[in-house]
Amino acid sequence: MKGIILAGGTGTRLHPITRAVSKQLLPIYDKPMIYYPLSTLMLSGLREILLITTPHDQDAFSRLLSDGSQLGIEISYVVQERPNGLAEALILGEKFLDGEKCALILGDNLFYGPGLGTHLRQNTTVDGALIFAYQVSNPSAYGVVEFDKHGKVLSIEEKPAVPKSSYAVPGIYFYDERASHFARQLTPSERGELEITALNNAYLERGELRAEILSRATTWLDTGTHESLYEAGGLIRTLQHRNATRIGDVEQIARDLGWI
Ligand code: TTP
Repeated sequence: MKGIILAGGTGTRLHPITRAVSKQLLPIYDKPMIYYPLSTLMLSGLREILLITTPHDQDAFSRLLSDGSQLGIEISYVVQERPNGLAEALILGEKFLDGEKCALILGDNLFYGPGLGTHLRQNTTVDGALIFAYQVSNPSAYGVVEFDKHGKVLSIEEKPAVPKSSYAVPGIYFYDERASHFARQLTPSERGELEITALNNAYLERGELRAEILSRATTWLDTGTHESLYEAGGLIRTLQHRNATRIGDVEQIARDLGWI
């Protein structure tokens, strides 16, 4: 399996900060935001990573991460000319994927928790598509997934007024070899984007979409607003001070995995 990080977008909710700087380069306490999703992919055992950026931010990301060899991984880059939606990642990444399975993660999503890496690693042989389900108190604010006791997904709804479950869909998705093919068949939504939900629905319609519950011990944060950005920084600081551990430290992870 190969990994794709989506680090484009416009970051309008973080204006004016993100008028001049990519959201995914902003600090979450002591590291750039992109370190956190990158660390999640590394902990999943993935060593070939594609970073999708806006045309003007690519240089900054490559100054930060270069070709990945310092982390024992291979990082390549592709530009998304316009924020045409999350599912466009599978089209932009088609050559990079070269017919392999793919983990797609949003560049502003932070995951942390005991056993997370093991849980993700166990699922990298996915057939069909796999999304994750995370119990939240306000499901109406998210994409909501309904699934049966075997994990087979019955529906996904974007910000439903009356949610069918209390499980939100966080920004990490595992796909088999057909994801780029299905992404190419999508048409833009009313807001003009190739929606990730539409791609997931392509698998759902074939009965090939599964959901795995992310343990309650896992922390999942979307860091795309001023409030959540500030909160995430505080949380990482507190956890690191209290537990004497480091979170999202890509160099430490590479060393622990024996990659450097
Ligand atoms: P969003 O947070 O949905 O969008 P955004 O980053 O443009 O921010 P805002 O809503 O405040 O305007 O995007 C989720 C992640 O996906 C984020 O890391 C940016 C990335 N992204 C892309 O790379 N390309 C895209 O076309 C879109 C829509 C998002």
